[in-house]
Amino acid sequence: MPNKLKSSFVSVLCMYLVSCGSFEQSSNSSTYNTPYQSFSASPNPDTAFAYLHQVATHPRCANCHGVEEEGLHRPTVGDHRELHPMNISFLNNLEVRVSEGKFVHNTFGKPVTCRGCHQDSNGKEKGMPPGAANDLMPGFVWHMPPVRMKIERDISAANLCEMWLNPVSNSNLAYRGGRDDMKTFKKEFEHHVKDDPLVRWAWNPGPGRTPAPGSHEEFVSAMSLWIDAGAPCPSN
Ligand code: HEC
Ligand code: HEC
Repeated sequence: MPNKLKSSFVSVLCMYLVSCGSFEQSSNSSTYNTPYQSFSASPNPDTAFAYLHQVATHPRCANCHGVEEEGLHRPTVGDHRELHPMNISFLNNLEVRVSEGKFVHNTFGKPVTCRGCHQDSNGKEKGMPPGAANDLMPGFVWHMPPVRMKIERDISAANLCEMWLNPVSNSNLAYRGGRDDMKTFKKEFEHHVKDDPLVRWAWNPGPGRTPAPGSHEEFVSAMSLWIDAGAPCPSN
């Protein structure tokens, strides 16, 4: 469409929308155009999972979960999920283990790990490395998950759901249950999304980064609503 035509089309559309403003507000949830809006307007297990998928695939979460590209599991950066500069990959990961109930780190034999740049809080200026830590999970600092938790650019809601519910894709740190053990799944997933400083960071990502949609509280409540309904997966 030529630009001039396009802009007059847009302004006519705007006039139409303005004059119909009151009608738009009173009609049903199909007028909400993001999963977050649909969930806040009518919270149910389906809108809750759609919102969970929207958050998990948002660059603030997905960048750290990474992609498998150029032969390695790599974190991505920015809103367009470009590969992390400086050739950073899983080979630079900070190894986090649990020992006597505490998170401990192993950086032995690695020239540089995530921790070389990513500290306990965000860098003060745009472009500086983000960071996070808290007292709820002391020692759980900036690092990336195993490749089985990667979030590829086009992961569907159905695939994400299966991944979360499959105990085989669970962490090295804790058994998180799954479809066959919903009690552990509820306990672990609720704890993880509620207390994890890296999950919380997505709503406090530092200067120049768009936060994940909605709020951390709403994300936690969507997770509980979905799990309490038996964690139903969408069909696509
Ligand atoms: C700085 C990196 C980082 C960020 C940012 C991050 N995560 Fe993670 N996430 C991890 C790591 C590391 C693990 C694996 C922990 C383990 O091994 O138990 C993980 C694990 C998970 C798991 C458990 C998966 C499973 O199958 O057991 C979920 C769910 C999850 N993250 C969701 C999120 C969401 C949602 C966000 C954004 C709101 C997010 N993460 C942001 C690093 C991150
Ligand atoms: C040599 C320093 C350095 C190392 C080592 C490093 N990073 Fe980064 N990282 C940065 C800088 C600087 C940025 C900010 C880039 C920007 O905002 O444009 C960044 C940004 C990120 C982001 C993007 C946040 C977002 O949503 O845009 C993620 C995720 C990330 N790093 C993960 C990691 C992981 C995981 C490791 C270890 C496997 C790691 N980084 C190692 C310097 C580093």
